[in-house]
Amino acid sequence: MTSKSTIDCSAVATWLAEFSGISTGIIGHHTLQRAVGERLEGTGLDDITAYLELLLSSPQEQQNLVELVVVPETWFFRDRQPFVHLRAHISALIAEGLPTQPLRLLSAPCASGEEPYSLAMTLLDMGLPTDCFRIDAIDICRQSIRKARQAVYGKHSFRGVSEAEKTQNFQVTPQGLALNPAIRQTVHFKCANLMRCLVENGSTYDVIFCRNLLIYLEDAASQHLLETFASLMRPGALLIVGSAETGKVPPSLFQPIRESFVFGFLRREEPSSLPPAAASSTDAATDALTDSAPASPRRRERPARPPALETGASRRRALRAAAPANAVARTAGRTRSSGEPATGRELDECRQELERNPYCDATYLRLAQLLEQGNQTDAAIDCLQRCLYLQPNSRQALEAVIALTKQAGQMERSRQFQGRLARLLP
Ligand SMILES: C[S@@+](CC[C@H](N)C(=O)[O-])C[C@H]1O[C@@H](n2cnc3c(N)ncnc32)[C@H](O)[C@@H]1O
Repeated sequence: MTSKSTIDCSAVATWLAEFSGISTGIIGHHTLQRAVGERLEGTGLDDITAYLELLLSSPQEQQNLVELVVVPETWFFRDRQPFVHLRAHISALIAEGLPTQPLRLLSAPCASGEEPYSLAMTLLDMGLPTDCFRIDAIDICRQSIRKARQAVYGKHSFRGVSEAEKTQNFQVTPQGLALNPAIRQTVHFKCANLMRCLVENGSTYDVIFCRNLLIYLEDAASQHLLETFASLMRPGALLIVGSAETGKVPPSLFQPIRESFVFGFLRREEPSSLPPAAASSTDAATDALTDSAPASPRRRERPARPPALETGASRRRALRAAAPANAVARTAGRTRSSGEPATGRELDECRQELERNPYCDATYLRLAQLLEQGNQTDAAIDCLQRCLYLQPNSRQALEAVIALTKQAGQMERSRQFQGRLARLLP
């Protein structure tokens, strides 16, 4: 019989990388040897060639081996800040007008469920009704998915969770803390291989949490997975990765959110669907930015914009253009009297700026000011919403949109923005 320490696992390592993306160089050759040794014992085979033959022909054996090499480490509200950001992101979507179709979130990989349940708790805590969202959760590990469906957890799952959060969401049982059924039912688990299952999934996601998997994958597998995610995300949709994984996210597809400890990105628009502000006439630019269609799923399919958080000359120019902090007049003083129409030249400048940098929140803010001065209140509100979609924490834009929605008699909407402003840190 071959000694475990001398098993040549190179062919199994190649299979593992091709099948699951997992890199043996990263999980360690020793881990793979130990797993293969265990499977040789489990199958009664004593020869690596015979084992490889079995592995290639038996989905059951493939699963058995994978279960032994994955790292299912996870806990509730891991890293915390991504969940804080999720709140702000969803608040921005709500302010924009939630669609009739549910928001779709994906936790992949979800391990034993702590992450997707943390997503659910965040949304429920915001007061979102359960029929407003759907959370899918996928992991390759059958044991983890079984545990996730049971939703009974021991103390290791609660690193960083307050006592209040525990008592609010869990019941004490002899087996551990059992998650309340109302939270449990919002998550739909699936045991599947992310390298293979996503394309036929066919869903479109508003938020994807893919944390602490990419570090274990071959670079090509990471790229493949991230490209697949991108194809399933609306422009402006939120991607969160693990703290050590940000470098793997392709900048051509995702725009980084420069907020500490979030490790977040927004799905970029396809170059072919850049904002209509790049149109050639002033009217076209203004029309494009004044879509007043009611909130609807269709509306959400329209290109949203990643955040304007880039540095660079165009952003600095736009920020200068927005000075004095316009906040659409009332919030920071007008640059001229109310009702005086913006000149075509000024609108043109904004259009050109958006053509150069379609992701610039400051230019939307400036355009909102010009539109308000032309008494185009609805159009100005729409611009401010776009600005807030790019920069959810812009106090200036929030103050301005509160004033304008109030002025337009949209009291409920105004209150929603006030709530967001109140939640901003000082
Ligand atoms: C460290 S956990 C991360 C869980 C959670 N996202 C978190 O950050 O707390 C990594 C998970 O990736 C899963 N995994 C590894 N390869 C996978 C694949 N190809 N498809 C789906 N899940 C995979 C493992 O089963 C494991 O549960």
